[in-house]
Amino acid sequence: IPVDPFDLVIFGGTGDLARRKILPALFRRFCAGQMEDNSRIIGAARADMDDAGYRDFVREAIAEFNTGPATCEAGTVDGFLERVGYVAVDAMGEDGWEELGRRMRDRNVVQAFYFSVGPSLFGALAERLHAHGMAGEGTRIVVEKPFGRDEASARALNATLAEHFDESQIYRIDHYLGKETVQNLMAVRFGNMLFEPLWNSQYVDHIQITVAETVGVGGRGEYYDKSGAMRDMMQNHLMQLLCLIAMEPPAKFDPDAVRDEKLKVIRALDPVEPQDIVRGQYTGGDGQPDYRTQVENPDSRTESFVALKARISNWRWAGTPFYLRTGKRLRAKVSEIAVVFKETPHSIFTEDAGRHRNILTIRLQPNEGMDLGVTIKEPGPGGMRLVDVPLDMTFADALGPDAEDVPDAYERLIMDVIRGNQTLFMRGDEVVAAWAWTDPIIAAWEERGEAPKPYDSGSSGPEDALALLHHDGRRWRDIRV
Ligand code: BG6
Repeated sequence: IPVDPFDLVIFGGTGDLARRKILPALFRRFCAGQMEDNSRIIGAARADMDDAGYRDFVREAIAEFNTGPATCEAGTVDGFLERVGYVAVDAMGEDGWEELGRRMRDRNVVQAFYFSVGPSLFGALAERLHAHGMAGEGTRIVVEKPFGRDEASARALNATLAEHFDESQIYRIDHYLGKETVQNLMAVRFGNMLFEPLWNSQYVDHIQITVAETVGVGGRGEYYDKSGAMRDMMQNHLMQLLCLIAMEPPAKFDPDAVRDEKLKVIRALDPVEPQDIVRGQYTGGDGQPDYRTQVENPDSRTESFVALKARISNWRWAGTPFYLRTGKRLRAKVSEIAVVFKETPHSIFTEDAGRHRNILTIRLQPNEGMDLGVTIKEPGPGGMRLVDVPLDMTFADALGPDAEDVPDAYERLIMDVIRGNQTLFMRGDEVVAAWAWTDPIIAAWEERGEAPKPYDSGSSGPEDALALLHHDGRRWRDIRV
């Protein structure tokens, strides 16, 4: 699908996110023929560099981080680099702004500015874009998480951006929304007659959302230790998954229709009771350091794991708990959502002593796909004994080679910015509502001053997280690929 020509300025153009994600994603879109000859990418950062220097930087970033197909249909890396430039800009001062303004003037293309910098610079950037005539009506700005660290700071950021940009110009990224299977969640729910009638507390016993990672905090200790899993993952990525699974069908697939429904879910969330949350912190193992060593804070009480039971007080979900968990250094890298249906009201098979439940599992990564556990007769002459088997579908197998060219989250999201489609971006009120739910949880931890429970690297998290479900007569699904 062709995309209009565009200028994309990346503030923080020499940063880690630009190197690892944004630039390789743009290169792949170039390869897919979505960058017209007059489209341009301009890196903007403090470093003193010229266009040629930045092109070298971009070339290296692509060599190191491009995961796309080996062939580039539209041309070569050189062809891509012809569209790349650089302006040294001081976000807090005046240096470079005249030059950037000059380069952006009289261009009859879509213009977008990617704020790939800490939120403390958002205000200054917005202000200077405005002052130098780059905040016109058609301009779009893209902001990364973390969008604040609590409700008050998120509101303040919204207000700062709103001074110069309308909500329709602001694209708040949650890269989980760009993942193919996350969008598939909506396709599965609203493109099939099969599931939606059963999608409520009458038929669904509970829902589990797991985002498990094997990596630790790596070199991001300084940021992470001030955030923890609750702010880094739960408030945004898991919350978004919860919304998509739980929301009412929007009347149409349009940005505000979808976001209105998501917002209603967040607002219907009950406060979480302290006994319904478990926090964990990884210990060392397998030659890897423990959390505290890694973040260089021997007294750290920050959680690298969190599991909780959420309740949505609305007509559809009252009585169906949502168990959410996420953590680092766990057994496997797995993101999945499991919808666990209730047992049949009555069993006619007296020889069968088992408990059987249909479970619909949506795998976000790896092996994107879904499987539906169904109960059938155990083969053989032993009478009507039942067994649960999966109806398993890996999207790549079902869809053939096309499924392998699925763009990664950043490719899709950046192109949606250029197309002006906000469906997969968080609206300001959504982010604020998500913090409003998160804040009291964090405040209660801080007040009690409890240390998180230790858990072994490579495990499924702290024991107490298992108990969270055992208390309710349920169990977590295994964390495995
Ligand atoms: C980021 C978090 O938003 O998401 C990281 O800041 C986390 O801590 C990452 O590792 C996980 O993303 P993905 O796409 O690898 O599941």
